[in-house]
Amino acid sequence: MTATRLVFLGPPGAGKGTQADLVADSLGIPHISTGDILREAMEKKTDLGGRAGRYVEGGDLVPDEIVLSLVEERTGREDCAGGFVLDGFPRTVAQAEGLDGILAERGEALDAVILLDVGDEAIISRLAQRRVCPACGALYSLDGDPPRQDGVCDKCGARLEARVDDDPATVKKRLEVYRRDTLPVVEYYESEGLLRRVGGEGDVEGVFSSILEVLKTVKR
Ligand code: AP5
Repeated sequence: MTATRLVFLGPPGAGKGTQADLVADSLGIPHISTGDILREAMEKKTDLGGRAGRYVEGGDLVPDEIVLSLVEERTGREDCAGGFVLDGFPRTVAQAEGLDGILAERGEALDAVILLDVGDEAIISRLAQRRVCPACGALYSLDGDPPRQDGVCDKCGARLEARVDDDPATVKKRLEVYRRDTLPVVEYYESEGLLRRVGGEGDVEGVFSSILEVLKTVKR
């Protein structure tokens, strides 16, 4: 079996989680979101959650060594033998270099990095409309993809919530952090010849089709 190892990059709210999920499902490989792993650890009040909580809530990046060790562990599990889709990682050049090192030690490498391009106006509007299910992780958009019953998850019936870091001041901070720390990661992958840019402002299905087109051109 040929493994497929992908990274999704893009600003907060670009649709990385939405698209990474669709791509991972279509390829039959795990979708690994560092944000989801950190939020779950916070919810369960684990040691990791305790160390990460104040950074996530404030819109800051969790220290590289914490995130790198969780990604090393997660991508080393058996279900990643056929590859994986990373979402929200790497976010700093140190994380990108660390990931290259982890994969090189296993004789592996990334196949492509998909950058979702979305402007600030769409991001701010999407994040204000986002609701998540704290129980099963399902994602909704109040204007684009609302739940059938107001405030209630279609899949498991739990009460939906806004994410703790989706308030306007924290979104502004996350955008600043993205520009400062993550745009250099875009340049890093561009110079490695791995970067593929995809417009992320169309509807979910349209963006997904564009990604599938791009993936056809990726050598694996
Ligand atoms: P993380 O969870 O990774 O958040 P993020 O990168 O800010 O991205 P989001 O999850 O907000 O958005 P997304 O791009 O996944 O968009 P989504 O599909 O949800 O990280 C959160 C925090 O964790 C960080 O701030 C940091 O503290 C920490 N962290 C995580 N990883 C880290 C790392 N590697 N290093 C250090 N710290 C780390 O879509 C957004 C909304 O838009 C949804 O409502 C969705 O339904 C809607 N939508 C999606 N696509 C479309 C579309 N095409 N049209 C209209 N609406 C759409």
